[in-house]
Order: sequence, then C-alpha cells, then structure tokens
Amino acid sequence: MSDSDRPRIVDSEAGGSRIADDGESFRRLVTPEIVCDFRAAQVSISRIPEGFVLDPAAGSGGQLAAYGKRLGKSCVGVELSPRRAVHCANSLSTLGGDIDTLAICGDGLDSEGVMSIVREKMRDVKISMLHVDPARPLDAQNHSISEMEPPLRPLLEAWSDYLESGELGVSLLLDLSPRLAPKQRMEVEAIVRELFPGVNLTWEWLSRGGGRVDRLTVHTGGLAQEDGGVRCVRLHRDGSFDALSGKAGDYHAEWVDIDPVVGEILALVDPVVTQSGLRMAYEKGAGQGGRVKWVHDSDRRPMAILDEELPINCTSRAFTPIHGRVEERIEGSLNLMMLDSLAASAMRCGLSKVQIRCACDPKMHTKIVNRLDSILGETEGEGGFLVDAPGGNSLFLCKKLP
Ligand SMILES: C[S@@+](CC[C@H](N)C(=O)[O-])C[C@H]1O[C@@H](n2cnc3c(N)ncnc32)[C@H](O)[C@@H]1O
Repeated sequence: MSDSDRPRIVDSEAGGSRIADDGESFRRLVTPEIVCDFRAAQVSISRIPEGFVLDPAAGSGGQLAAYGKRLGKSCVGVELSPRRAVHCANSLSTLGGDIDTLAICGDGLDSEGVMSIVREKMRDVKISMLHVDPARPLDAQNHSISEMEPPLRPLLEAWSDYLESGELGVSLLLDLSPRLAPKQRMEVEAIVRELFPGVNLTWEWLSRGGGRVDRLTVHTGGLAQEDGGVRCVRLHRDGSFDALSGKAGDYHAEWVDIDPVVGEILALVDPVVTQSGLRMAYEKGAGQGGRVKWVHDSDRRPMAILDEELPINCTSRAFTPIHGRVEERIEGSLNLMMLDSLAASAMRCGLSKVQIRCACDPKMHTKIVNRLDSILGETEGEGGFLVDAPGGNSLFLCKKLP
C-alpha cells in the first residue's frame, strides 16, 4: 500500500465548501437532515454497548454528526473521497469539544489502518455501533449487492472483530436501497446472520409520505426490536413519527381483483405497508383485523376497501394518505375533455374540491387541476378525490372522510 492510500486524518476547513457546491451526484447521496435526526433519536432510546459510533462510508458526515449530537458519543467517519472527507470533518467540527471525533480519508474496508489511528488519537477505542450507508447503483434491482460501495460482506467481515457485542449482540444500522429486490434482501440478511450468528435483526421501511418507500434499513442487536420482525415508519415533517410493526410473511391475504361499489370506503395506503409485508399490522392498527379487502397492489398507490371509517386516533391513519366513501364510478381515464362532466358529478355529490389521485399525464396535471378548481370554485361543499379503479379503465369519485 502506498502512503497516499493509507488512511489519514482530515481537518475541517473554516468556511469550508458547502454540500450545495458539490454537484447533484453528491447531494443525491446525502441523507436528509430530518432522517438523520430521526435515526439518532431512535438510537438514543436503544441499548447499544459503550464506545464510539463508526461510519465507514461517511459521505457528508451529517448522519454521524447527528449521532454525536444526540448520543454524546465519540464519532469516527471514514470516507474514500478526499473532498467528501472534508465535508465529514466540517460536520463533525460542529459537535462540542467534549466529544472526540475523527474524520479519516481512506478505505472503510481498511479496519486495521483506521483502528491504528483511532488507538493513537482517541480515548475510546471500542466500537459501540456501526452505521453504513453504502453508495449503490441507481437501478439497484438490476445489480448485485456486491456492487454496493463499499461492498457489504467485505465491510462487515473487516469490522466484525472490532465491534463490541453488548448483551444483545453487535449493533449495526445498514442503510440500504429501498429498491432492493426480495432476493437481494435475503442475501443481505444471510450475510448478517452468517457473520453475527444469533443476532436479532429488524427490517425498517421508512416513508416520508410522498407515495414511495424512502429508506430501507436493517437494524441489529440493541438497535433491533426484541422479536426481530419488521417495522414500518411514517416520518412526519415536524420530525414526529408513527410506526407499525409485526412479522412479515405471516399474512397471506390475497389481493382480490374487485372494484369497490358506491358507498364502500376506499383507502390509498402508504406503499411502506404493502412492501414491508405489514398489511395485517395495518388492519389491526385500523381496528379492522381480517376485514380489509386489498384491491390494488401497486408501488405507488396501493388500495384497500376498508370495512369502516378509520377511527380518529388509530395508528393506521398515518399510513393512509387519503380515504373516503365512493360516490360515483366514471368511465374512462382522466383527460381534459371530461372535466365538465367530472365537475357536474362532483357538484351532484356535494364536493367543492377534488384532489387528483389517479394516474395523469404529468404535463397535463397542473392544467387539469386548475381547470377543475376554476369550474368548482364557486360551489360550496366537501372535499373529494379521484382514483383509478383497481381494474383500470374507469375512475372512482370519492368523498373524503376526516
Ligand atoms: C451513500 S454515501 C453516504 C452518504 C452519507 N450517509 C451522507 O449523508 O452524506 C456513500 C459514501 O461512501 C463512500 N465510499 C464508497 N466506497 C468507500 C470505501 N471503500 N471506503 C470509504 N468510503 C467509501 C462514497 O464516496 C460515498 O460518499
């Protein structure tokens, strides 16, 4: 190994470069602050061993700094790119002087090299938890998990002997691509179980409410749920969150190929529920265990027919972007030509506003919304929404329930 490849400490730069200066590709990699803070809060109430937090692919260091701030633990970030390593140093420099921090430019797989710096520079030489958010190809489903950078297996092998194993086993938080296919998820799980036999493991699916899964993480040891299992989280804008948890795969209700009828209650469900396999937890959280019909399995807009309105304070509400009573079926798919008759239907149903929740050409979306709003503008009524019929080729106009 040449000297330039050896891990080296990086100092922060006064008035150092901002992430915004580093181009789209880096900004895309940076974990949003609200997610960093949520994770740090989650870790703060879990049981992890003594020691420092290690992020061997630290990027901007934002997540690591959030841990340092919340947990008061020492932090070590390793980053291959010299420029990003400076960002990491800058982020860590925002922590108070009582917290030992190290930003290292080098290969996160080089555990020996990193640990020799740690032994020389830090008071704390035990690793409490490892957080890793590897870079991954954009179309993650078509790549092998060994294409993560750094690759997961060699990374965990490199650090396995250095990680403290508390009473609950090693604490890992692996921040993976939400687009991983089921087979890839099984491969990840197999690696973790092989390297850390018997450790508790929880998969967490996180949504910020934008109609997609935002993050998919594996938590082990003190960071996992006691019964392992699966959890899905809806993180709200103010940093608060709701969670559903359960065992994936213990619910085999079929997706049924039926459309709702007028009067039934149709719900759009957050995709984290269906993708995590927690449909049963959703039903229970809605107080309707076994009484929900799952009618449309989609990545963006899964749909269910509920047995009754969602109780005001039920957990499943946070995982239901919108639900309402079906008022009318409208043939065809949404287009500009049908807006007059759609508005007439809305008025008949007592609706003064209709949210578009069905498929719509993005180029036409604003035009359609504005036109519909202007036709309905003067009417008095309630809120409604329009969704595609699960079977396609028609739409359902629904009255929103509170
Ligand atoms: C997804 S980013 C991490 C982003 C980070 N969570 C943040 O919020 O900024 C992954 C990072 O791993 C770095 N990386 C890739 N291979 C690495 C390796 N072998 N050792 C250290 N860092 C590596 C990349 O340069 C990239 O900055």
